[in-house]
Amino acid sequence: MSKWTPRQMPPQQGRLAIVTGANSGIGYQTARYLSRVGATVILACRNPQKGEAARAKIVLDNPAAKVEVRVLDVADLDSVRRFATEFLSENRPLDLLINNAGVMAIPERRTTPQGFEMQFGTNHLGHFALTGLLLPALLRQPNSRVVTVASIAHKGGKLNFDDLNAERGYDPRGAYQQSKLANLVFGLELDRRLRTRSANTSSLIAHPGVAVTNIVSNGMGTGLKARVASAVVSLFAQSDDRGAWPLLYAATSPDAHGGGYYGPDGIAEVKGSPVEVKPKQHALDPAAGKKLWEISETLTGVRYDALNS
Ligand SMILES: NC(=O)c1ccc[n+]([C@@H]2O[C@H](COP(=O)([O-])OP(=O)(O)OC[C@H]3O[C@@H](n4cnc5c(N)ncnc54)[C@H](OP(=O)(O)O)[C@@H]3O)[C@@H](O)[C@H]2O)c1
Repeated sequence: MSKWTPRQMPPQQGRLAIVTGANSGIGYQTARYLSRVGATVILACRNPQKGEAARAKIVLDNPAAKVEVRVLDVADLDSVRRFATEFLSENRPLDLLINNAGVMAIPERRTTPQGFEMQFGTNHLGHFALTGLLLPALLRQPNSRVVTVASIAHKGGKLNFDDLNAERGYDPRGAYQQSKLANLVFGLELDRRLRTRSANTSSLIAHPGVAVTNIVSNGMGTGLKARVASAVVSLFAQSDDRGAWPLLYAATSPDAHGGGYYGPDGIAEVKGSPVEVKPKQHALDPAAGKKLWEISETLTGVRYDALNS
């Protein structure tokens, strides 16, 4: 069977996508490809200047691209609510939500405006809240999809339910691994709840393998350790363009299904063409999914009334 490439993406004319963290790396490439096949794409970025620069680049590449920039700081639940309220007030149906924005391995424990550990708060809780608030717009659309971006790093992760916010001990790598495991556990639990209700919307999870982006400098800074880490990553990583392919496959392929997890087909899923891959066993545990869901509702104050029985 031939390998999947973005050339196989079905036309997306008339479909609306929101991509978080779309000004850089995987999110930027995902937005660029989706707009190329006709989707209207909202670049949801915390920094409007960076968002505008990304929009300008996409339009330069494809003058017909329909791209909008909106401010969203996914680490700040007030910003998430403002973004969702404004979007819902426009009464636009939503076809694709790509939960991509992320930070990695912040050296010292930092907290979000609501006091959550920054990696758990940004990578998981912000996207949990965003998805819940936007759900009414997704549920209205046939074949709408939520794609949540996880990582190979989830395999080393553990959901530390007694201390999810690392108040009793912080390890930069462990906090990242936990947040990426939470992305998977959430994406799979969302799929179970949508399926039980035979909803229009599917939840899929994707990871980019290892890709050259700003993730190291964004999280670790630009000191010697970060520069060494970036150099090591660039030796074996794929481009940000190729890193976006599993997200694009999950977002658009008729062969991708709710609850599916997609990543590169190469050795250790580091690089290659998108295929369905296996999450670690613990991510599939419905009890962990239910527990994380209930805790996330309590922490964020966002309830998924349509999906809670
Ligand atoms: N690159 C890899 O090898 C790799 C591997 C596995 C998984 N991933 C995942 O891929 C996703 C994208 O990362 P990337 O590699 O493309 O890194 P990146 O180049 O650093 O892009 C991350 C994006 O997220 C945005 N972001 C960070 N915090 C945000 C916040 N609070 N609110 C809104 N946007 C925020 C960044 O905005 P600013 O530009 O304003 O900082 C940037 O646009 C992440 O979820 C990451 O965990 C990446």
